[in-house]
Amino acid sequence: MHQINGFYGVAVVSLVVWYLLSQPMRAHALVKRKWNRNSVSLAVREGYKSITKVTGKPFFVRYWARDYLVLSPKYLPDVRRAAKEDLIFVDTISDVFFMYNWIGSLFKSTRMQTSVIKGINPRLPLEAESPWYIAKLSYGMLEECDFAMKLELGDHAAPKEVVALEVLTSISLRIMARVLAGTQLSHDQAFLNGANDYFGGNFLTGFIMLWLPFPPFLRDIVAWPLWKYHLKFRQQRVIEMIMPAMAKRMQEHEQAVSKHGDGEYDAIQTLLDLIPELPLDENADQSPVHVLSHEILHLVSSGQSPAISVTAALFKMLAEPSYLAALRSEAEETVKRNGWTEQILNELPLMDSFIREVHRFHPSFVQLPIYFSRWPYSARGNAHCLCCRGAQMDPDFIVDPEKFDGFRFMELGKADVRQEDGVNRWSASHASYSNMTFGYGNHACPGRFISIRIIKIILSRMVVDFDISWNRTDGEPPRFTMEGLSVPNPTQKVTFQRRQAPVYSS
Ligand code: HEM
Repeated sequence: MHQINGFYGVAVVSLVVWYLLSQPMRAHALVKRKWNRNSVSLAVREGYKSITKVTGKPFFVRYWARDYLVLSPKYLPDVRRAAKEDLIFVDTISDVFFMYNWIGSLFKSTRMQTSVIKGINPRLPLEAESPWYIAKLSYGMLEECDFAMKLELGDHAAPKEVVALEVLTSISLRIMARVLAGTQLSHDQAFLNGANDYFGGNFLTGFIMLWLPFPPFLRDIVAWPLWKYHLKFRQQRVIEMIMPAMAKRMQEHEQAVSKHGDGEYDAIQTLLDLIPELPLDENADQSPVHVLSHEILHLVSSGQSPAISVTAALFKMLAEPSYLAALRSEAEETVKRNGWTEQILNELPLMDSFIREVHRFHPSFVQLPIYFSRWPYSARGNAHCLCCRGAQMDPDFIVDPEKFDGFRFMELGKADVRQEDGVNRWSASHASYSNMTFGYGNHACPGRFISIRIIKIILSRMVVDFDISWNRTDGEPPRFTMEGLSVPNPTQKVTFQRRQAPVYSS
């Protein structure tokens, strides 16, 4: 009997010791989540208010099944200085959705990022001395936007009611597909539907896996049929749709057929141009055509992000029609002067400011996960978050932060002497403490310049060509938030009716 009691005693003590040792040694507080859909955002908001603002310290939040250290703004100068190789964003994306299961080694190469930074970037095309690149990108976007709007919203005077986020996602995806994957694929409805399903499937599969009550390594095993399905029937299917176009372009590229202005200029071109600098892995299981097609699919997936911004801006304009009137007047004047040309994108200061304020109020990432491979402040592990919403609503960085003031950044830009350097640090694409929608530092989104252009093109077309209304009288609809991500209400309907506006030439 004594022996049995002794055995249970030792077992209980061992269990307690094991439990205590298995708990992370936290140098900082863990802010607990309450169980609702918005719990990560609320916990981060609470931590920022009660810990960061009071003590200046970071805090932990459990998020996508692991603990992230949410950094206070005092670490942002270190984030800005961190070398590119010491700070990694793409791996966090692969982890938060458990995407490593179906994307494999996709993020091992930096070809995708480099092709955007050096190529699909209106500020820095691969051959910067050739302005035709920029003109070609803008022409393609303007043309594709007009085409997509006629298709989705009709080319007639009858009103059309649509689910806003859904339709604007189709329009944005089509425009980005043109810029990233060329004309042929951007006009291929099966490809666009497949890319859309794949992108949605990343979220769906990731969220189902998150809710499975298993630790990470078991979760991957138990959910094997689920992610295998996603890999085979969503991802592989679209990669195979891209492969013939990619094979043709590779052949043309080798023969230097489409190196200059008469050919396509898109991310396929820039990926191919980068191969000498960032060669393909000769020992990879998949063929070069497959690898590059996979990279294009991932870039095209990012084409849906501008729709989130456009929809948020649309809801704000409908909730406060004085903004709609002012933005319409600015866009009409600009288009009247320039036609639907590249030039309009440089002449929309009110819209630029409005977009930045919408992003400040409604960042897609409430906090942004990043990994540091080398970081003096690492507590345990390397998972950190930038507290985007906290900084953007902090009175230390922005006057009267709780007030939505759509044109504040235009006023700040006008008053800022730094504009003499040609850099407007209040523009929508400039990453700063009050503008962290696109991240911060060396890894800030390289697609932000093209994204802001696309957002402006869609918004301008929308306000110049359409009367827009909805059936709400109570302001903006609630946003959909989940695990720190935030998107405009996905079911809100909006009615578009073509205006009898003058047709300005393209
Ligand atoms: C409104 C639209 C978009 C938003 C809000 C957005 C947001 C972001 C954010 C927050 C990051 C992480 C930055 C960081 O770690 O500091 C990022 C990275 C990235 N984005 Fe975007 N993005 C958008 C559109 C795009 C587009 C259209 C492209 C492609 C053309 C793109 C390509 C990338 C790439 C390649 C990275 C990884 C950069 C790196 O790791 O160095 N993004 N984006």
